[in-house]
Amino acid sequence: MHINLKDKNILLTGASRGIGLGIAEQLLASGASVVLHHHRSSESIQNLEQRYPQQAFGLKADLSKPEEVSQIWDKALQKTKKLHALINNAGIALESPIDQNEEAWLDDWAKTMQVNLTSAAALSRKAAQHFISQQIAGKLIHISSRAAFRGDTPEYMAYAASKAGLVAFSHSMARAYGKQGITSFVIAPGFTQTDMAQDFIAKYGEAHALHDIVLPTLTQPQDIAPMVTLLVSGLADHATGTTISINAGSYIR
Ligand SMILES: NC(=O)c1ccc[n+]([C@@H]2O[C@H](COP(=O)([O-])OP(=O)(O)OC[C@H]3O[C@@H](n4cnc5c(N)ncnc54)[C@H](OP(=O)(O)O)[C@@H]3O)[C@@H](O)[C@H]2O)c1
Repeated sequence: MHINLKDKNILLTGASRGIGLGIAEQLLASGASVVLHHHRSSESIQNLEQRYPQQAFGLKADLSKPEEVSQIWDKALQKTKKLHALINNAGIALESPIDQNEEAWLDDWAKTMQVNLTSAAALSRKAAQHFISQQIAGKLIHISSRAAFRGDTPEYMAYAASKAGLVAFSHSMARAYGKQGITSFVIAPGFTQTDMAQDFIAKYGEAHALHDIVLPTLTQPQDIAPMVTLLVSGLADHATGTTISINAGSYIR
């Protein structure tokens, strides 16, 4: 099956590194036009803009700042006029020990919720409004985590809770807007070899991560991208509301 996304315009958050960069590479190679949101890193975004001058458009914004989040959708539309899909991929995992002082712990919770959940919901809201007004069978794809279902270690409880929130949010969007042709999906990766996972490897070693999974090698960003491409294509619309785990068998539900 060959998937051609030539007529699709997509907004992808956190496109500069890791899983987001892997998704960006595959969507662009499949012919889509992609607004590549990023925060600090811009080298990889410039590289994609040079390689795909007609399809790749960088857009910088800090998702921890609601006032910047509220401008992203309209700025993306200035680049592509119409959008057919939103991929909420950007995320943070702050190490937040439960015995640190309360103010710092609550700050970590608030920032995690803002970046991982509230900004994704705010963008999805704008996306749904656009899809409805333009009569587009739009796709919402949320990159959650195995942690949403399995839970996480005590230092990453806010992370797990934010990712579980994203799952509930996706369910609500799927139920609310399916009749208008809008679909909403969750992808729940397990440990994937990116900068975010590097802290775990540094602390516990690669062997520990390998022990958790049933496959012989750790999941790479390129292992997540094909599922996103399929969901964007519309070929899997009748799976709306679902969560697809990509965790190398480390948590089978
Ligand atoms: N790696 C894993 O093991 C794993 C497992 C399950 C789920 N996930 C989820 O998969 C997604 C991607 O993770 P990853 O491992 O690829 O992470 P990563 O390598 O750390 O990349 C994070 C991405 O999010 C962006 N970002 C971070 N803070 C931001 C902010 N305040 N405003 C705007 N953008 C921000 C970064 O932009 P800059 O580069 O510009 O800073 C970057 O593009 C996340 O939602 C993560 O929770 C990852």
